[in-house]
Amino acid sequence: MIETRKLGQGEVRVGAMALGAMAFAGWYDTRDDEGGVRAIQRALDAGITLIDTAEVYGNGKSEELVGRAVRDRRDRAVVATKASRGSPAYLREAVDRSLKHLGLDHIDLYYLHRVDAEVPIEDSVGAMAEMVKAGKVRAIGLSEAGPKTIQRAHAVHPIAALQTEYSLLQRDPERDLFPVTRSLGITFVAYSPLHRGLLTGTIRAPEDLAAGDWRAQVPRFQGANLAANVARLAPLDAMAAKKGVAMSSVALAWILRKGDDLVPLVGMGRPENVERNLEAFRVTLDDADVAALDAAFPIGCAAGLRYPESMTSSLGREAPPAGG
Ligand SMILES: NC(=O)c1ccc[n+]([C@@H]2O[C@H](COP(=O)([O-])OP(=O)(O)OC[C@H]3O[C@@H](n4cnc5c(N)ncnc54)[C@H](OP(=O)(O)O)[C@@H]3O)[C@@H](O)[C@H]2O)c1
Repeated sequence: MIETRKLGQGEVRVGAMALGAMAFAGWYDTRDDEGGVRAIQRALDAGITLIDTAEVYGNGKSEELVGRAVRDRRDRAVVATKASRGSPAYLREAVDRSLKHLGLDHIDLYYLHRVDAEVPIEDSVGAMAEMVKAGKVRAIGLSEAGPKTIQRAHAVHPIAALQTEYSLLQRDPERDLFPVTRSLGITFVAYSPLHRGLLTGTIRAPEDLAAGDWRAQVPRFQGANLAANVARLAPLDAMAAKKGVAMSSVALAWILRKGDDLVPLVGMGRPENVERNLEAFRVTLDDADVAALDAAFPIGCAAGLRYPESMTSSLGREAPPAGG
């Protein structure tokens, strides 16, 4: 069994690596549903207990498959899903839809997927707190929220987890988010910790993405940006070779070394990637290794935007003022 982390301020503990079930949406090249179910079950058996989905991942399809995968392992699974919008009326309907897709009687961690530009965060979290009282939800999370919004939300109801992108190529949260999550006891769930596959070394040119792969729309995966980002991987590759492990394992081990409040949330749509990523727990990075990686991947080092420009306004968003 792998090491564990406390989830937020409560007594619940989760494996120090989480599994993301976004692959079921088919946005990247993976669409093998049965392989995905086996991946979740293999993960749970290995102690990867936090299983992450969202209603928007295939319009309930990912939630349905997660529900199926965890059914006979429910006591071990900490199931997280997300609501797309923040109005109380929307949230009240969304949670019931998600419970139905999942086929479960409660959600362990319910996130607001994006801070709603139209809704004060107090209203969104107030509605989510009602779900906790009703027993539909055990804990509340936010995703891609700005620092002030996290503080406002936490004043309404304890926020157990912030889910935001974090990896060697995306270290901005260290500057503005870690100080807030750490001061409030909020677990930082680091999504896309392999930078959507880039840190595995398997994507080196645009042709490495299958036709229709969503990542082709992400500036960091395009043309000169992709070439620059791939060139930057050399020190990671060298460290992996020195340790005799995969690049991806070093990238994940680096996150594990950044603090016991962090949980890398890895997209694993197939069991063999669960097996590969467990190697991260066997990699020993000493202080000098971590310092060398920090120096090779400074904040802001990646070339290009991390999302298509049309999607960036919702990232790290601050909610409108209460009563405004
Ligand atoms: N809150 C948000 O807005 C948000 C946004 C994006 C993602 N997420 C969550 O974070 C999770 C992970 O993010 P992500 O999938 O974007 O990025 P990621 O975890 O950085 O990368 C996942 C990709 O790498 C592949 N992979 C995983 N381990 C590998 C290994 N050892 N060797 C080679 N390839 C490997 C996966 O393939 P297979 O799938 O084929 O195994 C998948 O294509 C998602 O599933 C989702 O739950 C949340």
